[in-house]
Amino acid sequence: MKIQFEYLAKLDEQMVDKLSDFESDHFKWSWSKKVWKELAGSSRNIVCLWQESLENNKKEIISLCVFELSSPDFCHLYKIVVDEKFRRRKLALALFKQMCHVASVELGFSKPHIYLEVEENNDGAIGFYQKMGLKQIHIKKRFYQNGNSAVIMHGVQDCDKP
Ligand SMILES: CC(C)(COP(=O)(O)OP(=O)(O)OC[C@H]1O[C@@H](n2cnc3c(N)ncnc32)[C@H](O)[C@@H]1OP(=O)(O)O)[C@@H](O)C(=O)NCCC(=O)NCCS
Repeated sequence: MKIQFEYLAKLDEQMVDKLSDFESDHFKWSWSKKVWKELAGSSRNIVCLWQESLENNKKEIISLCVFELSSPDFCHLYKIVVDEKFRRRKLALALFKQMCHVASVELGFSKPHIYLEVEENNDGAIGFYQKMGLKQIHIKKRFYQNGNSAVIMHGVQDCDKP
């Protein structure tokens, strides 16, 4: 399935709304519309990847990955979200690989450092990130509004490897 790619700052308002709506429908800790709009209006190097499927003659977003690139080799993965109907079909894997590719091309660095936070009880996402080779490096206590901690995960991704 084709993966679309664009810097958040370059997306038009309608597309930002679509991505934001998809995220809030499928992810517990989604950004508010206000946050999406503020980030879209900033000069930060935030990249969106997403996939669409044709449902009832209408293009629907079915997956989303958002990350920020910082020189020289830092990639902060904010979220990967896949529509429940499409899970365990390797869509997140494809997004993760594409993120690595984009990070290495955009940063000019083939082994970017990937960092992320994930809620301590999000076993599915932690399982996925472990499968991607990321390791837990830290716990941020009471990071989430419900008092839960965040697991901080890190990995150095070799983007030259297929
Ligand atoms: C985490 C998530 C993105 C995974 O998406 P996905 O498309 O289903 O994942 P993939 O099919 O690419 O999985 C690849 C591998 O990761 C691992 N994996 C994926 N989901 C898993 C789960 N729920 N539990 C354990 N391992 C899992 C498996 O090893 C899987 O390979 P397998 O299916 O052959 O066993 C998806 O469950 C999701 O959208 N969760 C809700 C949003 C979320 O919490 N995102 C994380 C934000 S920090």
